[in-house]
Amino acid sequence: MFPVERPRRLRRTPALRRLVAETTLSPSDLVAPLFVGEGLESPRAIASVPGHVQHTLASLRDEVGALVGAGVGGVILFGVPSTKDEVGSGAYDPEGIVQVALSELRDAHGDDIVVMADLCLDEYTSHGHCGVLDARGGVDNDATLELYARAALAQANAGAAVVAPSGMMDGQVGAIRRALDESGHQDTVILAYSAKYASGLYGPFREAVNVEIAGGGDRRAYQQDYRNRRESLREARLDLDEGADILMVKPAMTYLDVLSDFASEFDVPLAAYHVSGEYAMVKAAAERGWIDGHAVALEQLTAIKRAGAQIVLTYFAREVAEALGA
Ligand code: PBG
Repeated sequence: MFPVERPRRLRRTPALRRLVAETTLSPSDLVAPLFVGEGLESPRAIASVPGHVQHTLASLRDEVGALVGAGVGGVILFGVPSTKDEVGSGAYDPEGIVQVALSELRDAHGDDIVVMADLCLDEYTSHGHCGVLDARGGVDNDATLELYARAALAQANAGAAVVAPSGMMDGQVGAIRRALDESGHQDTVILAYSAKYASGLYGPFREAVNVEIAGGGDRRAYQQDYRNRRESLREARLDLDEGADILMVKPAMTYLDVLSDFASEFDVPLAAYHVSGEYAMVKAAAERGWIDGHAVALEQLTAIKRAGAQIVLTYFAREVAEALGA
């Protein structure tokens, strides 16, 4: 007997496959994470994030120009300060490196691309935690919120279109929204890292921003436990109630179930962060000739969209956007 159903009929030619594709990946979906170092004479390579550097202000401007040219949707900035302290003051100092970079980008590129700022203390604290410490060495949630509010104001004043709180403190979105609204920044968008898991995949990032968590510590007392799925819905609901405009899941590939839950539960735009370890794994295997790195990058980024994200933060942004546009 011949089969009645022939799904292969729709796979016969590239044109047919393109016509019936359920998911597309465009440069405008992508957001490039970028690092900017304070007081650097020249860009400094980051070995574990191949192809990426700690930028100088000048090289950052050029890189963002190239990303605009490739049609990339946005950039998110991370600062590498020259000095750190107990309270992470570089995160909210108006002269802090990210604030200076934000205002230069506003002048150089205006609204050609969406400029975002990661909002956290860990790059700026001497102990490497995402908040300030209490007397027992734990992270003090509510004292940290006041500093996040100050960082949001400093970033918005410097020209950030979007602020992205990534510290997983309870109430962080509400504290930031209130501070922004009270100071005339009603239009500043909040992209909330809602479901951010305590992950082994952030290792290369910590090299990129020179962060070492004191005493061999970790972030499990504030970032989520990877054994949990439904807990993410609670985190996301709280962020929405507090005023988040965009929700994010992080990392991406190991949490596509969570992303898919968000897509069915919520009607706001969704983002996912394909993190440094995810990028490094693809790059390392490709360097050994074990996989085709470009093909795997496209497969992974498209899968993240298929699972429900409109926006993908990825270290592949520039190379994939240039390849898609070519
Ligand atoms: C916290 C922050 C981290 C990342 C983004 N924001 C590090 C952490 O939580 O330890 C990781 C991103 C990546 O690995 O690419 N400021």
